[in-house]
Amino acid sequence: MIMETDRITSEADIARLVDAFYARVRRDPALGPIFHATIGETDAQWALHLAKLRRFWSAVMLRSGAYHGDPYSAHLRLPGLTPEMFDRWLNLFGATCDELFAPATAEAFRDRAHRIARSLRMGIFERLPAVRQAAE
Ligand code: HEM
Repeated sequence: MIMETDRITSEADIARLVDAFYARVRRDPALGPIFHATIGETDAQWALHLAKLRRFWSAVMLRSGAYHGDPYSAHLRLPGLTPEMFDRWLNLFGATCDELFAPATAEAFRDRAHRIARSLRMGIFERLPAVRQAAE
């Protein structure tokens, strides 16, 4: 199936977006600390995360199959994660897309990010209490 998103971006776009977005995340007072607590603060520690996130967006936007991880489990175990952090994340992500890309490309990235964020947020914060307890 050919989707609109197959044509309007590239690996080079994805690399630029991931680098610019996470540079902002690291400086952001609301999001920086939770990322630093898990990933670390050095460029060497971040290099692995950035490489993984390039593969993730390549799989999402270009259907490259480059990513095989489990984002849900990765976020489930983050201490101090709140639903409001997802709004902040999406705002920063959207602003970065708008700065880097033409409107249709920015919109395609934003749309995917919103869908994935919604499903992560629902999975993490709206689970039944018994399920949440069993996972903790
Ligand atoms: C409140 C917002 C968010 C915060 C604070 C956050 C934070 C983090 C952190 C700290 C990690 C590293 C986890 C680890 O290495 O153990 C991570 C991994 C990841 N995040 Fe997020 N994240 C957020 C939202 C999102 C959203 C909306 C997406 C996708 C659209 C996303 C995609 C990913 C992916 C793909 C990974 C890699 C998972 C793996 O290890 O395979 N994150 N995130």
